[in-house]
Formats: sequence, structure tokens, C-alpha cells
Amino acid sequence: MLTPGEVKLSDGRSVDFANLDIAATAPCLRVVADTVAELLPYYGSVHRGAGALSERCTREYEQARETVADVLGHGPGDTVIFTRNTTDAFNLLARAVPADTTVVTFDAEHHANLLPWRDTIRLAAPRSPEEAVEALDSCLYRRQNPNALVSVTAASNVTGEVWPVERLAEVAHRHGARIAVDAAQLAPHAPGRLAGLGADYIAFSGHKLYAPFGAGVLAGRADWLDAAEPYLAGGGASAHVADDGTTRWATGPARHEAGTPNLIGAVALATALRTLHHRDLAATEQALLHRLRTGLAALPHVEELRLFPAAAERVGIVSFTVPGRDPGELATTLGRDHGIGVRAGLFCAHPLTRRLLSEATTRLTGTPETTGAAGCEPGADQAIRASFGIGTTEGHIDRLLAALR
Ligand code: ALA
Repeated sequence: MLTPGEVKLSDGRSVDFANLDIAATAPCLRVVADTVAELLPYYGSVHRGAGALSERCTREYEQARETVADVLGHGPGDTVIFTRNTTDAFNLLARAVPADTTVVTFDAEHHANLLPWRDTIRLAAPRSPEEAVEALDSCLYRRQNPNALVSVTAASNVTGEVWPVERLAEVAHRHGARIAVDAAQLAPHAPGRLAGLGADYIAFSGHKLYAPFGAGVLAGRADWLDAAEPYLAGGGASAHVADDGTTRWATGPARHEAGTPNLIGAVALATALRTLHHRDLAATEQALLHRLRTGLAALPHVEELRLFPAAAERVGIVSFTVPGRDPGELATTLGRDHGIGVRAGLFCAHPLTRRLLSEATTRLTGTPETTGAAGCEPGADQAIRASFGIGTTEGHIDRLLAALR
């Protein structure tokens, strides 16, 4: 893992930086940095040239695609498209969904899986995994339109709660619908689970997977994607352009990857995915999660945000509120005085975070938080999020708890 090492505090002391904002952007794995450094001298044109550099770069790019397909357990009829990130992947999928399809999602989603859709049924955020399954079953049973795509998160970027994707996929398929999964937060914590989710489409980002080089993935069934208008019009996506501009578009991933592709991003993402796929991350992470949640629960002025019951399965993400303290100011203080990086905000999941913030404040003080329409920037009506993963130590968690105390 590449780390910044020590950072200077406001009192002049130096401490190792406690990066507890990994859900936003994860640091770079050493193996990813080394792989990128090895490839850089050969950096050249992908799919657009002859000669040693172009041949090697084209091969590495397509190998990266194969690695992703292997980890996801792809079969014939599936495809992997490299995008910029998860948001980009969902925008691409939203353009490719056939026009007569109803999209069903929950209002607990990250904006990446909330805003790109056109014809949407938005189900109320469920209070348990079981309620999510029942709500979807009932919605699909009652729907008028036979063509539906369900789109859900695998793990919440606000609460870390793991959603019952396998059961939601079973329900979707039983009703003849497809399911797309936002795996941005599950992929870094449990990449081995991705292949078994039963998803028709999976989206995730390299920068949350310890591969911070600007790539993401949309993977899944090729038919809608091959039939859709190219996501970007341009070179690479076009198989033939006549003098009058009439264009025959490519099929396969090239159709949606116009322009020179992000070779380094794709190779970095695939390297990280392959590396993490072979590691057992769960035990260490669950121990840290237990330490953090137990410690927060012991602080009378702090309340955790949660949608599901307290014992529900989670990845290493915990959001909380400290009523009476400005979250932006608190996050800045944690950084300057304690060498801790957290995020203050609504985490690009405004409807969910506002609701949970209000509930948590009421639990703690008996008075609901007055929440307004805030952006992703810190403000008075926002929460604090601590998120962790590879490289996080008990010392980092204890330092956060001590600072809050
Ligand atoms: N979506 C990212 C987060 O949750 C940026 O912080």
C-alpha cells in the first residue's frame, strides 16, 4: 500500500495519517503502482497502431478485460466495458436500457444509481434486508409493464450495510426482470462475492478498489449494449463512416469506448481486482468494524446512522452524527489536530442520509435535525463518515474514538 507516511498536526507533532475516507477514494496498492510503472515505458496506442508498443498495449488492455470477466464469472453473451467510474457506468446502462423498460430502484441509493434513470419506480428505503426483498417482490408482482430492470446497491456508501442482492436477483429473475448492481462499495471489501450475486449487470470503480487511475467497469449482458446507440460517438466506436457521414457502429465493447481508451486505468483496475480476489479481507475488517462501532456506541454524544437493524451485515463504513457540532468543522479538526481523514457531508446519497441523520438525531436528543438541501460539501446538516480497509489499523480506529471522546 502506498501511504503518505507522517503528517504534521496543528501542535507541531507528526503522526502517521489515519485514512478513514477510503470509501470515497482508496489509496494505491503497491502491486498496482508497480504494474503501472512497469507498463509506462511501453505506453502507446491501444487498438490503433502497429509495432511493439501498440501491440503490447492492446494486449494488456484486452487482458485487463479478461481478468475482470474471469473474476465476475462471465459466460458467453456477457461483456466488460471500461468506463470512467461507477457513475459513468450507470449513465451508460441508462442509455442502453430499451425504451419500454421500467427501472425499479430504492430511494436509499447513491446518486449514481438514482439520477441517470428515466422511467423509474423508486421504492421507499426498506428497514431490513427482508423488507427490501418483500418490497421488490410486491412491486414486480403489481407492475403493469412486463419489461423491468431492478437496480440496487450491494453495500451502502453511507451505512456500509450489505444489501441482499442474491435474493433480490432471484426475485427479479422470477418476475422476468433483469438486475443491475452498484458494487462500488462491495467490490473493494468482498470481490470474491461479485460472481455469485446473480446480477445481470455490475458496475464498480477503480479508485475505490485501490487502483486510483480513473477507470470503472460496466459488466454484464451484451444484448442491450450491442443494440444501444454508442455512449460516445467517435473513433473506435465507428466501424465505417461514409463520405456523407453515414456511420456503421462497432459492436462489442468498442461500441461504447470511443476515443483512446484509458489503458493505465484498465490495467490498474484489473490488477487490483485480481490481487484482492485472492485475499481474505473479511476477518480483519470485521474486527475493526466491531471495534469502531462498539467504541462509538459508548460515546453518549455520538449516534450511528443505520437503515437496517444494528446487527445487519456491513462492510467497513460507518456514518454518525454529533449533534451540536458542525460536521465540517469537526472533520477539519480531526484532520488538523489528530491526523485523521474522514468525510463530512451527505455522501452523494442525499435522500437516504438526510433521513438517517434526522432519525439518529431524534434518537439521541429527542429533537429531529433540520435538514436542508445541501450539496456534497460540508455544512451544518450533514453527517460524518469513517470508512476503512486495507492499511487501516486498530490504532487509527482508537485515535478517532479518542478524538471524539
Ligand atoms: N461516492 C463516493 C463516496 O461515497 C464519492 O464518498
